[in-house]
Amino acid sequence: MTTLAPAAAQASRPDPAYPPLRIGPIVSRTPVVLAPMAGVTNAAFRRLCREQGAGLYVAEMVTSRALVERNVESLRIIAPDGDFRPRSIQIYGVDPATVGAAVRMVVEEDRADHVDLNFGCPVPKVTRRGGGAVLPWKRDLFRGIITAAVEAARPAGVPVTVKMRKGVDDEHLTYVEAGLTAQEVGVAAVALHGRTAADHYSGTADWDAIATLNEAVTDIPVLGNGDIWSAEDALAMVEHTGVDGVVVGRGCQGRPWLFADLEAAFAGRPDRIRPGMQYVAETMRRHATLMCEVFPSEYKALSEMRKHMAWYLKGYVVGGDLRSRLAQVSTLTELDDLLAELDLDQPYPGEPAEGPRGRAGSPKRPALPDGWLDSRELSEDFQRRLAEAELSVSGG
Ligand SMILES: Cc1cc2nc3c(=O)[nH]c(=O)nc-3n(C[C@H](O)[C@H](O)[C@H](O)COP(=O)(O)O)c2cc1C
Repeated sequence: MTTLAPAAAQASRPDPAYPPLRIGPIVSRTPVVLAPMAGVTNAAFRRLCREQGAGLYVAEMVTSRALVERNVESLRIIAPDGDFRPRSIQIYGVDPATVGAAVRMVVEEDRADHVDLNFGCPVPKVTRRGGGAVLPWKRDLFRGIITAAVEAARPAGVPVTVKMRKGVDDEHLTYVEAGLTAQEVGVAAVALHGRTAADHYSGTADWDAIATLNEAVTDIPVLGNGDIWSAEDALAMVEHTGVDGVVVGRGCQGRPWLFADLEAAFAGRPDRIRPGMQYVAETMRRHATLMCEVFPSEYKALSEMRKHMAWYLKGYVVGGDLRSRLAQVSTLTELDDLLAELDLDQPYPGEPAEGPRGRAGSPKRPALPDGWLDSRELSEDFQRRLAEAELSVSGG
């Protein structure tokens, strides 16, 4: 909702600091949100990131049905990271009544301070049943779900936000209409990942679409998401789109210190963390230690750490053998031994450590229920199949 200042006015702006992000009653000094990422943004990773800088740090997604059924794993996923506030969680759901019940349970039991709703999942097994990124195509269902969530959260004063993609594909865009609906029913902020379901993670995120949404949605904050790999990218997105804040996903995989850079950048400071190998190794060790507090066993924690190894070491000179042994690590002692083998005097490598990282791929024709695109309203048949979609979802 921030209006874009003319370039000349921006150049002469006396105070380079950006305003805080306000989501309902929540104020974040730095207008930055850690994107929920299934399998990544657990309590250990969120803590590692928030130790670096201010922002909202969203837990991994859980389904509304699992919450209502008090699934132990789902309750563990939304468990807070110590005393840290605000506690942001993300819920995926396809049925207004179940989403409403899940949000009611969360706020009545004081399990979160902010609930984000996921309408961004492009995974075929979800979209094939009409869930995730293709759900807003059914405008009555989308409105029903977000209304149920907002009404359930209102008595506790907990803000509800929406995270979505542009639409099904370039011929079936939904984001402007969905953003306006969200604003109308009392959603506290909307975030747009500038890709369609068909785009998956291919190409580059469409920041022009984010600017378009920001122009259309004027009463609540709009957040931009997609392809922020550095603090400079975050500032560039704000300049390009006028958004009130940014949502950062893959860019912080193996680089939790990006949140320190983001805090500095949004405060108008030039300092950036350019870590040498020693700092990277210490961060990996701290990450692993925190993981051991989150997972039931050291083995499980270290197994979960394996996928982070390549991200942490991107761009650094590390032998193939050591890399592959790190990617099979099982205990903290083993990790310590392997980290000691790194060339700890190695300075920051610069460009090879920067740029895109994590999930990528090529466009895919979205798998959809037969006839899904024929109507913007939901038939009973689709309603039944959607219920099945909730059972198989696992990320965005
Ligand atoms: C491993 C992984 C897991 C993800 N899980 C979720 C999720 O649970 N919920 C969600 O809304 N988006 C999820 N996403 C999408 C991200 O939140 C984000 O929208 C996307 O990665 C684009 O932002 P980026 O370019 O900054 O990475 C996931 C992305 C990745 C790479």
